Amino acid sequence: MRSLLLAATCIGSAAVGGFLPPSPEPITVTRLRLPPVALNTDNGSCTPEINPRRTGCVSKTSDLHSGHYLRDGVHLLAIANFTGAPVEPDPASIYQGQQLILIKTDNTTFPNGDSWKCITCGVSSENSQGRGLAMDYPQAFVDGKRALAGTNVVECSDGLASEACGPDSVRIIPLRWNTATNNSGPGGSMRELRLHPDNHHIGFNSIHVTSNGIAQSAFFGRLRYDPSPKWGQPPAPRYDVINVSLLYNEEQSHRIIVSPDDPSHLIIQPGALAVGELRGFGGTGKEVTWLGAPVESCNIDVFASDITTGKVRRLTSHPEYVDPVDLSPDDKWSVVLDTRGAGRQMFIAGLRGIPPLIDLVAVSAVSSVRNNGKRRFFQPWLIDQYGDRDHYYGQQVNAEGSGIPGSGSINDPEWNARADPRWSWDGTRIAYTQIITEEPACGGVNPLPCYNSTEDGGRNERIMIAHLTSHYGMNVLVGSESVSRENPTPFVEVLHWYSDLTQTGPNNGTKITSPDGFHLSIDIDLNFFEANGTLTTTVAGKEYHQPANYT
Ligand SMILES: *[C@@H]1O[C@H](CO)[C@@H](O)[C@H](O)[C@H]1NC(C)=O
Ligand SMILES: *[C@@H]1O[C@H](CO)[C@@H](O)[C@H](O)[C@H]1NC(C)=O
Ligand SMILES: *[C@@H]1O[C@H](CO)[C@@H](O)[C@H](O)[C@H]1NC(C)=O
Ligand SMILES: *[C@@H]1O[C@H](CO)[C@@H](O)[C@H](O)[C@H]1NC(C)=O
Ligand SMILES: *[C@@H]1O[C@H](CO)[C@@H](O)[C@H](O)[C@H]1NC(C)=O
Ligand SMILES: *[C@@H]1O[C@H](CO)[C@@H](O)[C@H](O)[C@H]1NC(C)=O
Ligand SMILES: *[C@@H]1O[C@H](CO)[C@@H](O)[C@H](O)[C@H]1NC(C)=O
Ligand SMILES: *[C@@H]1O[C@H](CO)[C@@H](O)[C@H](O)[C@H]1NC(C)=O
Repeated sequence: MRSLLLAATCIGSAAVGGFLPPSPEPITVTRLRLPPVALNTDNGSCTPEINPRRTGCVSKTSDLHSGHYLRDGVHLLAIANFTGAPVEPDPASIYQGQQLILIKTDNTTFPNGDSWKCITCGVSSENSQGRGLAMDYPQAFVDGKRALAGTNVVECSDGLASEACGPDSVRIIPLRWNTATNNSGPGGSMRELRLHPDNHHIGFNSIHVTSNGIAQSAFFGRLRYDPSPKWGQPPAPRYDVINVSLLYNEEQSHRIIVSPDDPSHLIIQPGALAVGELRGFGGTGKEVTWLGAPVESCNIDVFASDITTGKVRRLTSHPEYVDPVDLSPDDKWSVVLDTRGAGRQMFIAGLRGIPPLIDLVAVSAVSSVRNNGKRRFFQPWLIDQYGDRDHYYGQQVNAEGSGIPGSGSINDPEWNARADPRWSWDGTRIAYTQIITEEPACGGVNPLPCYNSTEDGGRNERIMIAHLTSHYGMNVLVGSESVSRENPTPFVEVLHWYSDLTQTGPNNGTKITSPDGFHLSIDIDLNFFEANGTLTTTVAGKEYHQPANYT
């Protein structure tokens, strides 16, 4: 295991004070249509009356959480716990338990009329040998065929969104991180896996027990598919996480040291910032994001480190607690889930600039004040690339509405966000999940009343899409293109060309060759164009074809 160097030059708020804050921008928020809610969790409670298409139900609280968009910008990955399915051999019996689903975000439906589709329901044990149970943080690969969910890769060779993708064509493939010197056993335990935008690397956290309690470390590694592993558990096709680096730099990890000159003095090393928990990667893949020991006492912030140079950016500095973060595809914006606005942490963190001395013992407890049991105080906030500064603390993404507790409005304070918020690949939308405060965090002896959800079916969870209507969409290019060349004579170029490119966004279109490819022969001296097959480019609905052959 190697140690990736993390130099710590922290850009605090002073260094960016010169950048004017952006003006508040227009944001509209919509909700997604979700599987219907069953009356209870009994077998068969998902009745044909509740779901006439027999494609499953969820409970009011079903551990729902949204993940990435697919690159098509239309389908959103999510995890839901299905409930109330009838027992076998009813074909609807497969819609049970925690599953990966896709949800349409453009108000269209799948061919059966549903706005969602279960991807992992009914996958056989043969197609899911050795799978991990957790399915959290669903993240899309560029190829549209794979998603990372928990410690698994879910794969459908037809494409996750394709109609042909059903239980028989889906595979759930486990990940394994070898930590044994003799390569045996199930490997190390990984949590909070995040896919790097290059789709070949992941970041993750691992908890271990020390003499001082529980400790967590962050790692970065590479995925390598092995169809028939010779060692380790499970002995099934799997992705091995190889070339794993620990995100730790001994020299930069001790924020407070005893003065070597005078043991009665402590020295605070401003540059020393240790990675506490990995949060993800920037949109361009240049940076890894993480939570670490505070710069200011009791003020938990997120940071980003350049993966190659180790240079650290402090992304937030507001005294309230922040944790989940997603950087926009161009790294120019971040969306964070933060307690800012709720005032919950101000009693310990409101006075700025206190050196983080007590944090040596208090940091774990201070971090845990952010929630009240299962009640979270997170709301999504949009922050520009220069971070919190002066009087700029970002813009609440879901600020519209009456704000009346229990009203179900977009900004109802009883509805709180859960990890992770996610940017669409064109940078114009943000998906996030919310849950309404439930007992015992309200009701009973608790002075906070419980409010009934006003969502359809009384569901206690909802997935929201924030549309950043003034953000100019980025082009998202998906697909592949390959060309090989021969020179039968020095002046004759023969190209074998295979293109299957689709771009969405302002410059949308396609570039596609015929199934057997496009084969061009041209004498660069004479310019005689001769081709077999076709190469067609379509831009803004207009098709452009190759010229006719010379002969
Ligand atoms: C899913 O819901 C069932 C109740 O229907 C519950 O027993 C189970 O623990 C839940 N699973 C997860 C992973 O939350
Ligand atoms: C529901 O069905 C499962 C699987 O058929 C069975 O094991 C379980 O006992 C049933 N639960 C109830 C409450 O009937
Ligand atoms: C979907 O339809 C609803 C109701 O017709 C509408 O309010 C909403 O704006 C539409 N959403 C999108 C993304 O078009
Ligand atoms: C590998 O090492 C572990 C721990 O030292 C030991 O328990 C296990 O038996 C070894 N397995 C093999 C196949 O040598
Ligand atoms: C793993 O790391 C070694 C040593 O740094 C390097 O030679 C090798 O190419 C890496 N393998 C992969 C698959 O990245
Ligand atoms: C919530 O709904 C339950 C059941 O319908 C009802 O008894 C209760 O009074 C409602 N609570 C509020 C605050 O409206
Ligand atoms: C494609 O581009 C045109 C403008 O050239 C735009 O009106 C349309 O919405 C775009 N479509 C998609 C799917 O991005
Ligand atoms: C096109 O096909 C013809 C007939 O098979 C072949 O003779 C010719 O070499 C091909 N040209 C190119 C550019 O592939």
